[in-house]
Amino acid sequence: MKVSLIDSPLDAIAADCTLTFVVGKDTEHRWVDHADRFEVMGFKCEDDESCLFPESGRLYIAIASKDHDNLRLGCASAVKAFRKKGYKHLKVGLYADEGQEARCAQAMAEGFVLGGYLFEDYKSKKTETGLAEISISSEMDDGRALDVAAAKAAVQRGIDLADSVNYARSIVNTPPKDLTPVKLAALAKTLADECGFEYQDYDAEAIKEMDMGAYHAVSLASSEPPRLIHLTYKPNDAKGRVAIVGKGLTYDSGGLSLKSSEAMYTMKADKSGGVAVLGIMRTAAKFAIPLEIHGIIGATENMIGGNAYKPDDVLKAKNGKTIEVKNTDAEGRLVLADCLCYAQALEPERIFDLATLTGACIVGLGEYTNGIMGFSGERKCEMLQAANESGELAADLPFNKHLGKLIKSEIADMSNIASSRYGGAITAGLFLAEFIDEAYRDKWLHIDIAGPAFVEKEWGYNPHGASGAGVRMLVRYLEHYAAGDFTPHA
Ligand code: BES
Ligand code: ZN
Ligand code: ZN
Repeated sequence: MKVSLIDSPLDAIAADCTLTFVVGKDTEHRWVDHADRFEVMGFKCEDDESCLFPESGRLYIAIASKDHDNLRLGCASAVKAFRKKGYKHLKVGLYADEGQEARCAQAMAEGFVLGGYLFEDYKSKKTETGLAEISISSEMDDGRALDVAAAKAAVQRGIDLADSVNYARSIVNTPPKDLTPVKLAALAKTLADECGFEYQDYDAEAIKEMDMGAYHAVSLASSEPPRLIHLTYKPNDAKGRVAIVGKGLTYDSGGLSLKSSEAMYTMKADKSGGVAVLGIMRTAAKFAIPLEIHGIIGATENMIGGNAYKPDDVLKAKNGKTIEVKNTDAEGRLVLADCLCYAQALEPERIFDLATLTGACIVGLGEYTNGIMGFSGERKCEMLQAANESGELAADLPFNKHLGKLIKSEIADMSNIASSRYGGAITAGLFLAEFIDEAYRDKWLHIDIAGPAFVEKEWGYNPHGASGAGVRMLVRYLEHYAAGDFTPHA
């Protein structure tokens, strides 16, 4: 599917279908031709409602405002609606409030590419999708003149970013049999070769040698060997150094604290944080973001077997701290603990981890929202701003010292689960915080993507399956960080 901005009025573009937004119920707009038929069609122009006139190939989508995410969502719905009907070439005008042209052009392109995504690698019969071309006209909805070169660049950025999200989605969607830690490392190596990243990986022996006793223990029972993957993007104009750590559980059975059948299903997606790291770095290279970026992925399976680590075991992490295992299903924090130690040794100025870490985060925030944790209010505000601007949903989950006491252990420095079932996303975050050195306290954020990472019932621009959570939010963060232009908060 080719998406492009065409420097031409909407009427002059030949296409077999047209998308028109009805913004804020304004049915008088010059592009709205069927207002007299809306009533009989039951189209009330309420936010998110749509109305298709198949004979003329006209689709109307109502949006409350020209907010970038309304446009992103609307464009995604349009692709899905037109695809089903067999149209080939869609056209649409450019919708944006003043000053928002680039952001909205990018969002529209993202919506089309994200909404057009299908994962059919394992289907014998593929969907025949005729929708091959999408033309965004340079004509603006309110008739204002457009900086066409800037809008074209913004559309290209939207395409590149959404392509990276789709790239991540497909890796996460790949079944665990075919997407083992070794396979993930091979994909990371291919990406590194394509983008000019430095590449290094470490096998089980090396993980043990590096004193990563927690990560190593998790990997023990699997017949698929683990890989610690480290990618480095080092542009000549780097203005700072950032490390992004991802949980890469290519399968989480729960280990000896085995999950139920229902809970185990979808655990191929427990690698979403690690895969997001690949999507972020791919985009950083495409966008030529002037930052040195280290991507670190702790890839392993969490399985059962005679060699498995056990509840009652005490593990020693890379920073020397000891951990009593009380539940082998709280494995992500063990892997991340060691990966975070590894990442800090690289001396970055920012360090983020992305992980499908807790079911509790989904209970707390719902399945659409990422949880943001850390010690620095300023860093959290920055990440929330980045999430907002990218169209991802995120919320602050605040630490407090009472919750911190819940991971105490009688026989080790800490336990891998809390003594209370309340506040489970935060106690997991506080566990990770035990592996953050004093000097990094205000440089680190933990992002729990357990809710949005895997979509069981399609929503917004996300079909069933992996969503690519974290990619757009982190890319936006990196863009702002490189430019030094976060909006200051009081
Ligand atoms: N990978 C899971 C968390 C998860 C659950 C992600 C559902 C996405 C959907 C994680 O490893 C896990 O099992 N966490 C446990 C922690 C508990 C044992 C303290 C959980 O959330 O139940
Ligand atoms: Zn688990
Ligand atoms: Zn897990």
